[in-house]
Amino acid sequence: MRRFLADSQPATHGLPLDFKDRDFLDITDFSRDELEHLFLVSDHMTRYLHNSIETLHGKLMASLFFEPSTRTRLSFEAAMKRLGGDAIGFADPAGSSYSKGETLVDTIHMVENYVDVIVLRHPAEGSAKIAAQITDLPVINAGSGALSHPSQALLDMYTIRREHGSIDGLKVAMVGDLKYGRTVHSLAYGLSLYKVKLMLVSPETLRMRPEILEDLDQRNLPVEQFSRIEEVLSEADVLYMTRIQKERFPDPLEFEQVRSVYKLTPELLESAKKDMIVLHPLPRIDEIDPRVDEDPHSRYFKQAQYGIITRMALLSLIFGVEEKV
Ligand code: NCD
Repeated sequence: MRRFLADSQPATHGLPLDFKDRDFLDITDFSRDELEHLFLVSDHMTRYLHNSIETLHGKLMASLFFEPSTRTRLSFEAAMKRLGGDAIGFADPAGSSYSKGETLVDTIHMVENYVDVIVLRHPAEGSAKIAAQITDLPVINAGSGALSHPSQALLDMYTIRREHGSIDGLKVAMVGDLKYGRTVHSLAYGLSLYKVKLMLVSPETLRMRPEILEDLDQRNLPVEQFSRIEEVLSEADVLYMTRIQKERFPDPLEFEQVRSVYKLTPELLESAKKDMIVLHPLPRIDEIDPRVDEDPHSRYFKQAQYGIITRMALLSLIFGVEEKV
């Protein structure tokens, strides 16, 4: 990959960029320079979206999904296969020994004998870190409980950069379940590496956790909180919609009170900036009217497509294949 990066290397402040064999547990595991490098590699991967290469031939990835997933699992597996590697794993813990009582620790000990990289989604917040402590193989966090989802943040930031040309200087509004939604947590930390203003829109009960807000403040990310989409719509450059995370509510009654609190419609979007983009990690339930799919602001399906190329870039860098291409 050196070949294609030679003309467009980002500034590295003299430090070599070395991703090889690293875990990816949090978005802040990567510096801004490293993220920029990964975005350049992702640009390059666009040409392989429907056209496989063999750079990871012989490498095997485990995708261990203890929670439901469509996009994350399929795009990691597609990314690995497009690069000439292969994937094994499970999409439902009911079909694994987890259902017999096997611990995560034992599962990781076992799986590390079979593969070269582990992609893990698990309901416990510290799960990816625990896995990384157990094995010497690189571990990629594909969603740890309600806390973090760093590869989603990669593709979200890549989408913003690609659709707007850059991330610096933008106003990003996040709407919905900011308490239990893990994508917004990782994205907020990722954006704190850029010059961005964050506008958080949620019901009082689903505000972002105070400790995360404190962290963002320490990272000098300006944050303002709102209750209604209308309050941010004319200012935002990015509107990041999220699903209310039904499965994480301890009390179903609490969920009923907020389940349909936001609904983005084409009529609402009339007051948005012309180049504002609407993102959503998906799945969407009823927070985006399907009529918005045809609206020129919508980018969420494109965002899902960018998930493959950013994951191809991530896997390539972790395997250090840029040395070999
Ligand atoms: C998200 C997740 O699983 O956290 N989806 C995804 O990975 N694309 C968002 C969600 O489930 O609402």
